[in-house]
Amino acid sequence: MATERRADRAVWTPWTDSAVMDLNVKTLNQQLVPHKGFKLINGTHDPDDVDQIYNLEIRDSDVFVVTYPKSGTIWMQQILLLFEAKGDVTAISKLNNYSNADLIPWIEVNGNRQAFITAPSPRLRVTHLQQHFMPAALSQRKGKVIYVARNPKDVLVSYFYFHKVANMLETPKDFDDFFEKFMRGDVYGCSWFDHIKTWYSHKDDMNMLFITYEEMIQDLHSAVQKISLFLGKELTDEQLANVVKHSTFNNMKKIPQANYEQVPGDLLNHHQGTFMRKGTIGDWKNHFTVAQNERFDEVFQREMKDFALSFVWDIKDIENQLLAL
Ligand code: PPS
Repeated sequence: MATERRADRAVWTPWTDSAVMDLNVKTLNQQLVPHKGFKLINGTHDPDDVDQIYNLEIRDSDVFVVTYPKSGTIWMQQILLLFEAKGDVTAISKLNNYSNADLIPWIEVNGNRQAFITAPSPRLRVTHLQQHFMPAALSQRKGKVIYVARNPKDVLVSYFYFHKVANMLETPKDFDDFFEKFMRGDVYGCSWFDHIKTWYSHKDDMNMLFITYEEMIQDLHSAVQKISLFLGKELTDEQLANVVKHSTFNNMKKIPQANYEQVPGDLLNHHQGTFMRKGTIGDWKNHFTVAQNERFDEVFQREMKDFALSFVWDIKDIENQLLAL
């Protein structure tokens, strides 16, 4: 699996070689560039290259994991890698020069689209892009899409901390400042509401599995089974159990590749925090003021009124459900 994929290995995450080169010009690197109703990161994404993603030819075996940032991308990368390795975590650990994102790269990052064209199957990719940039062939039911959604209050908090760690994103002045930016969609990924609504409205045109971070927290085994079924994976019960075991938060935190520990300090400031931070539901309660929460709820009700999507907002709701069983 790994050696096959080495050939198509592009530089790791959203943040590329050019990001490394540009580190001396941080202000440039942290700049978000408006592009066709979205925002790209200067130095990480090339607008012309991103535009060509739409025309990519798609194979039935291609899989795109789609997320708004901080919704469980690395978690899904870990699960897909473990599927390829039939649950054998040592096969992944051996590749200790590679992060999860080297092995399942972002399609929108400079250089990765070109590498995708000639990469061997299965081509597994992640993206934070809006639906209108993605290959048209996906809407003709070619390939597969897994959309992972997470309750947006926890996304906001997770993204706030990630902005401190990621050198290519502007460090927020404080939480209140970041709250406003997120509400305006003035972040990479733009508006959480637009992202989920557009993708969700295309779910029936595509081979799409829509899954939430919260259902993965609630019952990882069932979630992994569902993903495996969707992808047509044939794993034994033991292999499936190993996929689950090695994709729990506590176990992933111990795996340097899943925690992005080998990512150079000039890209991720490891002193500011770890990538695998809290991994739970409801951390927003420790950050939002009552006024912020009320405002968020109001916007959420308004934006999501035509979408029958519900989220778990508090880990206690899951714990109470389990107790009631
Ligand atoms: S990124 O930068 O957009 O790719 O980030 P992403 O990987 O989408 O999201 C990171 C958050 O997901 C949490 N995470 C997990 N939670 C529970 N269980 C597992 N196994 C897991 N793996 C990743 C990670 O801790 C980040 O959330 P926070 O709330 O910051 O802890």
